Amino acid sequence: MDKNLNKELYSKELFKVWSEKKDLLSIEEYFINKYLNNKNSNIIEAGTGGGRIIFEIEKLGFTNLEAFDYVEKMIHFCNEKKKKSNSSINFKTADATNLIDYGDNKFEYLLYLQQVLCFIDIDNLPKALDEAHRIGKQNSIYLFSFLNWESKFYNPILSKLVNFFRFVRGEKIDKYKLPWLNINGNINWRFLNKNQPQNTWFKEEIILEILNNCGFTVLEAKSRLNSKDKAGHLHIACKKRI
Ligand SMILES: C[S@@+](CC[C@H](N)C(=O)[O-])C[C@H]1O[C@@H](n2cnc3c(N)ncnc32)[C@H](O)[C@@H]1O
Repeated sequence: MDKNLNKELYSKELFKVWSEKKDLLSIEEYFINKYLNNKNSNIIEAGTGGGRIIFEIEKLGFTNLEAFDYVEKMIHFCNEKKKKSNSSINFKTADATNLIDYGDNKFEYLLYLQQVLCFIDIDNLPKALDEAHRIGKQNSIYLFSFLNWESKFYNPILSKLVNFFRFVRGEKIDKYKLPWLNINGNINWRFLNKNQPQNTWFKEEIILEILNNCGFTVLEAKSRLNSKDKAGHLHIACKKRI
């Protein structure tokens, strides 16, 4: 149910802001420059939104590019942008948990940035990681980013509060799954209510273990480039091991 609430958010309230975003963050630039070095490789981006990252990658001279998002309106937006910019990126509507349209062992570089896997129910995360693993070639490189549990001092308090209400209502939801506190710059005053869109926040050691168990070797994990950057997102570079 949460997955659809997040999908609804990206189709409505968050559509404009995420479809129109531009430029790479410096930490994204760092990982892309460090790990994407063969311009002829096949690249795919998951949860592309308005194509911010994949269009920037095309500008860098990469040519075999694919991207998907589960919000059809985002893909329509990308295709319109593609027509205007003479781009050759192949966009598709797809859900990260079921990538039936993409063959096995196809991609050398796979980008799961901007926390795309945090919007998925924790029970479905292995499914999405299995799909990511399946479509990557052996030794392919993955760039992931996740919401970083340790980056917000209030997460443990928020989790206790939210889970008290869940307990009273008889709901069983993972304690690391928290409601959105801010939607499009507005405080979500309904965050304690039932049926709120939610994200999973990850402790570094937990997500590194999950990635390892799903067949990825972690090459590097970083939550910021320097002490001035916000540490909200944990960026992880991995290699497909098996
Ligand atoms: C925070 S936005 C990032 C958009 C873009 N990658 C960027 O950085 O500008 C997250 C995007 O992931 C998409 N998304 C979330 N869960 C998804 C899933 N399970 N499958 C495909 N797309 C998903 C949303 O629709 C949204 O466009």
